[in-house]
Amino acid sequence: MKSLQFSMLLLSLVLAALLSFSTGALPQEDFLRCLSLRSNDSSTISSVIYTRNNPSYSTVLESTIRNLRFNSTNTPKPLVIVTPSRTSHFQATIYCSRKHGLQIRTRSGGHDYEGLSYVAKVPFVVVDLVNFRTVDVDVENRVAWVQAGAILGEIYYRIAEKSRTLAFAGGIFHSIGVGGYISGGGFGLLFRKYGTAGDNVIDAQFIDVNGRILDRKSMGEDLFWAIRGGGGGSFGIVLAWKLKLVPVPAIVTVFSVNRTLKQNATQLILRWQEIAHQLPDEMNPDVTMLSVNSTQDGRKTILASFSSLFLGTIDELLPIMQQRFPELGLSRQDCSEMSWIESVLYFNQLQNQPLEILLNRTFRTSVGGQYYKIKSDYVKEPISETALNGLFSRLSDEEASSDFIIFMAYGGIMDRIPEDATPFPHRAGNLYKIYYDVNWQEQDNVNSQKYIDWSRRVYNYMTPFVSKSPREAYANYRDLDIGSNNVGITGYRQASVWGRKYFKNNFDRLVQVKTKIDPQNFFKHEQSIPPLH
Ligand code: FDA
Repeated sequence: MKSLQFSMLLLSLVLAALLSFSTGALPQEDFLRCLSLRSNDSSTISSVIYTRNNPSYSTVLESTIRNLRFNSTNTPKPLVIVTPSRTSHFQATIYCSRKHGLQIRTRSGGHDYEGLSYVAKVPFVVVDLVNFRTVDVDVENRVAWVQAGAILGEIYYRIAEKSRTLAFAGGIFHSIGVGGYISGGGFGLLFRKYGTAGDNVIDAQFIDVNGRILDRKSMGEDLFWAIRGGGGGSFGIVLAWKLKLVPVPAIVTVFSVNRTLKQNATQLILRWQEIAHQLPDEMNPDVTMLSVNSTQDGRKTILASFSSLFLGTIDELLPIMQQRFPELGLSRQDCSEMSWIESVLYFNQLQNQPLEILLNRTFRTSVGGQYYKIKSDYVKEPISETALNGLFSRLSDEEASSDFIIFMAYGGIMDRIPEDATPFPHRAGNLYKIYYDVNWQEQDNVNSQKYIDWSRRVYNYMTPFVSKSPREAYANYRDLDIGSNNVGITGYRQASVWGRKYFKNNFDRLVQVKTKIDPQNFFKHEQSIPPLH
């Protein structure tokens, strides 16, 4: 099997080389000539093309590289970046990339944890949707048409301009692109009340490998199902989403309560595991754990930070917490009331900043380092005190000095939406999701392997305590450690390894959709859905 894959890879490399010899030009020169021939107006397309000779090439490329692990001199770079401003630019780029054997990597917000929207090991073109980000909010009908290059902050801001009691069920970090975010499911502040972002999409505009522009009706329900959670970069390019807007009260409450080990953090987490998924749908309880130096004796301890949004007032929240989780001792002083849009700033640690900060697509969060490795897990049974202590002891390792682990409660409406409603399968039966964030600073990047190894050790340690067969993972928390396709070749069996972790049994339906819409597998990457041959 391996030798067959190797021969196929060799054959494709030889064909690519022959293609460039036959025209006597470099692939990007043929590609660029093709683009200008295919464009009705070659002057507009030339203004959205960046070759390596263009003085703005690096600025455009680096503008939304979020994980600086993938911004080194050794990182493979695209031959060309195209930033389409019209649908015809996408059509020309797809046509010419296919014709001249170049792969496309589509980028909306650039938050892919493994950099797959701007890094490839084969000659490639980046299609960056930075110029495709109109947000059109219709308050009366509670919908918004949003182009895929918009960031979540732009959506929240445009909704808030017109209404403080409508929202979109999106993620916390405002600089995430909606193209990749919704393609991978999309979880956020309102997901226990309204589901994933993908659950709240009612139409889409999409371009396929043949350059056809499709909407929900013309693409059919199977493809419409697949693009709302089946992972970005597999089926084609999403140009825009039509989103359902959801009601939120004029006043919401946020709280954050910190407890160290001496302040009973372990027992509180054990209790949290039992009850968090049963708290009202109007909350999104989570607990963040990290190693800190105690303010009392300067010795290392674990800090557990319990926080949540609540869609209601402090007076409504306090009796609920008193009844369901009295051990936490939540008090009025721990809580703040604000509008929903202000709560977005709060959870981004941007309190007191002007709302306009939500429009900044190149914004870098100050939480953690800019170099990172992320992993995820799902928990179905509460983990024991001994298991938790083992996790704390690893969090106290030297490599974990700026790392944090978050338990995010499930339950709420997630228990009531069927597993196959969209490709995102992690619904009923999950107590919470674990987010492992291992990060480091630039000056320590020479030691990156040390940190990555630590994340793998912790992940191995957690094996007995988390979901099994498959060990589930969240597609938007991309992790190539759980499996990947070979360069240039995507086989069903190999892809099933990571595919079932992300999508469980929905993986097979995704493969069927892929086989229909892109049988030659033009849109591909290390974790794209394979077609059946
Ligand atoms: P990017 O542009 O890198 O694309 C990601 C993937 O989607 C790539 O495979 C890409 O090719 C593909 N893609 C992009 N645009 C496409 C399009 N228009 N059509 C088809 N395919 C497209 N997640 C979450 O659910 N909730 C959260 O709160 C957070 N928080 C968070 C914070 C931070 C700081 C980071 C870095 C990431 C998150 N995430 C997250 C994860 C995030 O949802 C995930 O990385 C998304 O894929 C990011 O989408 P972007 O468009 O920004 O990424």
